[in-house]
Amino acid sequence: MRQQNAVCGKIADVLEGAFAGAVTPEEQKWVTNIEAIRRRLDRCREKLYLEDFGARTADAALTEEDMRQGATIEKEVRVHNRASKEKFWALLLFRLIREFQPNTCLELGTCLGISAAYHGAALKLNGAGKLVTLEGSESLTAHSKSNLAELELDNVEVVCGRFVDTLPDVLTTCGPVDYAFVDGHHAEQPTVDYFQMIAEHAAEFSIFVFDDISWSDGMRKAWRRITEDPRVKAAVDLRTIGICVLHNETADKTCFRVPLY
Ligand SMILES: C[S@@+](CC[C@H](N)C(=O)[O-])C[C@H]1O[C@@H](n2cnc3c(N)ncnc32)[C@H](O)[C@@H]1O
Repeated sequence: MRQQNAVCGKIADVLEGAFAGAVTPEEQKWVTNIEAIRRRLDRCREKLYLEDFGARTADAALTEEDMRQGATIEKEVRVHNRASKEKFWALLLFRLIREFQPNTCLELGTCLGISAAYHGAALKLNGAGKLVTLEGSESLTAHSKSNLAELELDNVEVVCGRFVDTLPDVLTTCGPVDYAFVDGHHAEQPTVDYFQMIAEHAAEFSIFVFDDISWSDGMRKAWRRITEDPRVKAAVDLRTIGICVLHNETADKTCFRVPLY
């Protein structure tokens, strides 16, 4: 129980830091460089064809087979970039990495590499750790790799392919997972399945973050089911993202919602 209180205290510090917006000068250099790339992407009209293996829209009601087959979509880079986590949330993830100092980190959903860059930068500043990030689209993979290379983030590896095809191998090779950020697919059952798959490879103590938990009814259900898992010892519902703490200790569960808006 004492450990659980300490963990919740650290998450409260992360939230407080996110609202205060305070960053050290060293951290600010990374933020400035990543945000410069975001601004450039926001202006980029290059058209990208990509295979979308996700839920596509909140009310699309696709079958799992529809999503497995994917759909080819053409959009300008600046439109894809709208799916990148906004600066506030990206910085919140950055602060989680700075606070908890995970070693093995996983991201599902790279897109153009903005959130991956924030994670990679935080790991660089920590002085240890790596991120493996998974993306289904070849064209987005190529763009994200080039953005991460520009930032010299050699601690981030981008793996291309459908999560269902790439995740099992990544999990067997990357070692116990200390941190996972699930930001892709956004359908109920696949989200719960990814949670189960990653949780089986989780370190004794780990942090899992789920994006867009209020994006659709399915994602609300997925979040509820995940928080009911006995391995989840604390869950923080920030409406946009949800943070879960997993550990093996047999402790009571703590779940709280932070009414951000
Ligand atoms: C919301 S975007 C990720 C944004 C990124 N995390 C950021 O904030 O910079 C979700 C990404 O997941 C990818 N994706 C969705 N479903 C997928 C699946 N089943 N397999 C592989 N990639 C998938 C999409 O191609 C898309 O680029």
